[in-house]
Amino acid sequence: MTPAPFRFAALASGGGSNFQALLDRIASGELKARAAFLACNNSGAGALEKAKGAGVPAFHVSAKTEGSEEGVARRLLALLDEHKPDLLVLAGYMKKVPDAVLERMRNRVVNIHPALLPEFGGAGMYGHHVHEAVVRAGKTRSGMTIHMVNENYDEGQILVQRAVDLRPGADAAEIAARVLKLEHDTYWRVVQGFAEGRIVPTDSRDPSRAVTLSSEWIAAMRGLPGTIVP
Ligand code: GRF
Repeated sequence: MTPAPFRFAALASGGGSNFQALLDRIASGELKARAAFLACNNSGAGALEKAKGAGVPAFHVSAKTEGSEEGVARRLLALLDEHKPDLLVLAGYMKKVPDAVLERMRNRVVNIHPALLPEFGGAGMYGHHVHEAVVRAGKTRSGMTIHMVNENYDEGQILVQRAVDLRPGADAAEIAARVLKLEHDTYWRVVQGFAEGRIVPTDSRDPSRAVTLSSEWIAAMRGLPGTIVP
């Protein structure tokens, strides 16, 4: 019997280029997983169209559609109950994930951040603000972080960080483009790591031990350009 394919759900708020990059790697056969559903808090999110284009069930779930933040949590839980994804992938989701969802998906929620955490994370650090802060700080490199999500944003266990050296005088737009390219080349590898059982969720409540990483996966990440963690 062939094992059931690994399935992830995604939450997004924006254009959805990271979500599209995952769909592209599924289409190319490199990522052996399926997208179970996508939910967006914003009806204008480009990610919704991308999901529909790929035949992935897509939903607009917001306090407006559900009546309240509690309603959002209930709807997301209902979608998880119905589709039973193995992993929840945050792909540019600008809202806080309800605690009830984090509890249900404990140690199975990943996020991508366009900087080298812990620097340039936390309140107000999203989108172009991140890259502008990197420029203001005079950094000579930036990069991306993929990390586990717990109740404290941007503080979960780091799975992988990759960096690029910045050209003197590089502006925020240039840094954003270079970091996004790294994001697209990396997120699918993390999803694949879960799908292949090389990243394994634990049942620990200690955020630093949300998952275990196999030595093969660590070695594969270290073989990529710019990897600084693991
Ligand atoms: C990415 O830069 C990601 O790191 C951050 O939000 C952005 C989403 O971009 N969390 P996109 O919607 O995937 O194009």
